[in-house]
Amino acid sequence: MSGGRQGREPGRHGGRPAARRPGGADRHRTGGGRAGSGGGGGGRGRAGGGSPAPTGPKATTVELTFLPGLADVLAAEVAEALAPAKPPVAVAGRDDALVLRHTGPLADVLRLRTAVAAFVSLHFDVPRPKSLTSGDHLARIVAAVYDSLRAGGSSSFRFEAAGSDSAAFARLAEGIRAATGLQHDEKDGQLVVRVRRGTGGTSRTVDPGWDVLVRVGPRPLSARTWRVADYPGAVNATIAAAMVRLGGVAPTDRVLNLMCGSGTLLVERLLAAPAAAAVGVDNAADALAAAAANLDAASLTRRVTLVEADALTAPVDGGPFDVVYADPPWGTLHGSHSTAADVHAGLLRAAHRVTADGGTLVVLTHEITVMERCLREADALWTPRDTVRVFAKGHHPRVYVLSKR
Ligand SMILES: C[S@@+](CC[C@H](N)C(=O)[O-])C[C@H]1O[C@@H](n2cnc3c(N)ncnc32)[C@H](O)[C@@H]1O
Repeated sequence: MSGGRQGREPGRHGGRPAARRPGGADRHRTGGGRAGSGGGGGGRGRAGGGSPAPTGPKATTVELTFLPGLADVLAAEVAEALAPAKPPVAVAGRDDALVLRHTGPLADVLRLRTAVAAFVSLHFDVPRPKSLTSGDHLARIVAAVYDSLRAGGSSSFRFEAAGSDSAAFARLAEGIRAATGLQHDEKDGQLVVRVRRGTGGTSRTVDPGWDVLVRVGPRPLSARTWRVADYPGAVNATIAAAMVRLGGVAPTDRVLNLMCGSGTLLVERLLAAPAAAAVGVDNAADALAAAAANLDAASLTRRVTLVEADALTAPVDGGPFDVVYADPPWGTLHGSHSTAADVHAGLLRAAHRVTADGGTLVVLTHEITVMERCLREADALWTPRDTVRVFAKGHHPRVYVLSKR
């Protein structure tokens, strides 16, 4: 397979997105420049009463959260999966949220794999949360809760808001409970209702109002139901899904995951599309047991071969591979900083041996300095095609997308 795994060929998706940059030229086109306004069947113009104008199919304002660094990858996935009339734009002042107008079934957003969570986003021109129970505001919030419940059921709800223990929130909770039958459980509630200051306002003299965000589904999108076996150092599933997209996806691909751990990358790759072959290699039996359990929970067991072996030295059957993934050990988990240079250099050599001509290696690593040095030394083996820096739980790993020379 020759180079150009950029998601432009028929039957292939993923690769580096061509979508406009969130927060770019389109940023001020929605809702008069207020990202996150309207939604749930009622645009910002409805706040405060009045009948909605008949405007064709119901459009919902959806806010998607993601790990900082993955905005472009998510925007490309949104364009592909939801095909909105306009690309998503950044939520003002945030590096971890996009907003879009969605006209299809709300359940469609549950298919997104690089988003952390999806919310129906409502804006209210009110001075304080106390006012959210008045006028038609509560009815709009309840409608958004029903939209969420139709997309993915919950039996209870909780607030994420400053002052959520106040009397104003108690009233709002009682209003939602009475209208929906959902239990208000501030500790373990499934459906999250976020209430925050409006994000769109820039003028200090204009009150920014309040946003209410009703999460779609009982859990974040990033909490995968297939993850039945926890494994220390397992990669975040939305990062794994982003790596899969960045490497490009075709159903004819033979894919390999070196140092596969609990199989996150294999599961995310095979949920994105079938593959002609899928192999995972790890030298730890407990890692492979976790991978087998996760693959089984995702009903993917029969499509993957797991091999216990040293990924740096052992030959791998089933190649050559079109796409190879790896996230080598980092910190004190399964390795140490002192061995990082050998591991990264060995990985670049090992992956080169088993990758098809023009094939792709996607590496997630926390050892940036080490990786940069190893890449310079492996200049004859790999051409860097793309680099994405991700922010996750205080760590700043990078995804390297490399083409085999
Ligand atoms: C960061 S973890 C991978 C996590 C995995 N992506 C997941 O989501 O669970 C690194 C893995 O590399 C494995 N490993 C370390 N050195 C190895 C080697 N020389 N050969 C094969 N596997 C190795 C460890 O056993 C560990 O499972």
